[in-house]
Amino acid sequence: MEILRSASLLAYNTFGIDAIADYFVEYSSVEELQELLQSELIKSNRLLAIGGGSNLLFLNDFKGVVLHSAIHSINIVSENTDSVCLEVGAGVVWDDFVAYCVENGWGGVENLSLIPGEIGASAVQNIGAYGVEVQDVIVEVNAVEIESSTIRKFPNVDCKYGYRESIFKNELKGKYLITSVIFKLEKHPVFKLNYQHLEEEVLKNGLVDLKNIRQTIIAIRESKLPNPKVFGNAGSFFMNPVISRKQFDSLLAQYPQIPHYFVSETEEKVPAGWLIDQCGWKGKQIGNAGVHDKQALVLVNKGGATGAEIVFLAEQIQASVKEKYGIELQPEVNYI
Ligand code: EPU
Repeated sequence: MEILRSASLLAYNTFGIDAIADYFVEYSSVEELQELLQSELIKSNRLLAIGGGSNLLFLNDFKGVVLHSAIHSINIVSENTDSVCLEVGAGVVWDDFVAYCVENGWGGVENLSLIPGEIGASAVQNIGAYGVEVQDVIVEVNAVEIESSTIRKFPNVDCKYGYRESIFKNELKGKYLITSVIFKLEKHPVFKLNYQHLEEEVLKNGLVDLKNIRQTIIAIRESKLPNPKVFGNAGSFFMNPVISRKQFDSLLAQYPQIPHYFVSETEEKVPAGWLIDQCGWKGKQIGNAGVHDKQALVLVNKGGATGAEIVFLAEQIQASVKEKYGIELQPEVNYI
């Protein structure tokens, strides 16, 4: 285990912000993590656990210890004729895991192709796209409590999953480090192709199978979302707001073309990207921070932006959406 001092976090955040951490430590096993958690370095410093850094925005240097999992194992826990359960290390790159499942003919995560980040963070954030959320395939999350270094297993129901929500972002924020996740994949999957024109796009490219679904999703994402290696970004900057039916009905009367998704009898979800786009932000830039020209929900680092510049742009956007639609957008990105 190597402890780096004054480490640059440039390679550890997809926004491409050049923040410095006092310490940076990577652990490659549960035992190594438990040992680390009992050390003076950990007991006497602020901690920040990061995965691929695809949902973080550094506003300043980080005064404390940044922890990164290098647990990279993938093991079959159980298998039968219909399904397979895999234990996947928190440090495995999410999309490598998706590619591995698709190559083996195991279904369940193909719609989540090309989402940046790592396994541990996927279970914190409940990543989702194209009608699938990772909670649909998670059986259990294994974690270590920071305070006591003890191992705890969280069955799916205990993770309190919701739209981009989990217990790890709320009640237990900063209390546990995820070490591995157990997923259940299907050998005879029922594909989920209901999102917008997904099925049509898949059929255009060939047969309805895992490989084609993955390729189609990759192509859709690449056409809409900026490559973080070219322009730093963190995917969707804001969550899609869930509003009351009453507020939605009055918006619909005023803007009949507003896209929307049913949540419950009392609530409806509307796409933040549409709201931002309608406020005229698409392609706009303030300083080195910009709004992506193909998807208004994505804020981009146009080169050398500071965290503060990105936040300034985000606040201007929030203010104009609030003024025009009366809706308060919440960042999906975590400010550090
Ligand atoms: N729209 C616009 N203008 C825009 C962007 C979107 O009018 O600039 C409209 C679209 O035409 C469409 C609707 O808004 O009617 C929804 O757009 P899209 O399908 O692109 O999805 P989204 O709601 O903007 C969500 C997720 C994405 C995920 C896609 C696909 C959130 C916050 N974002 O975006 O997740 O890939 O659906 O499922 O829920 C991420 O979280 O980082 C992410 C990229």
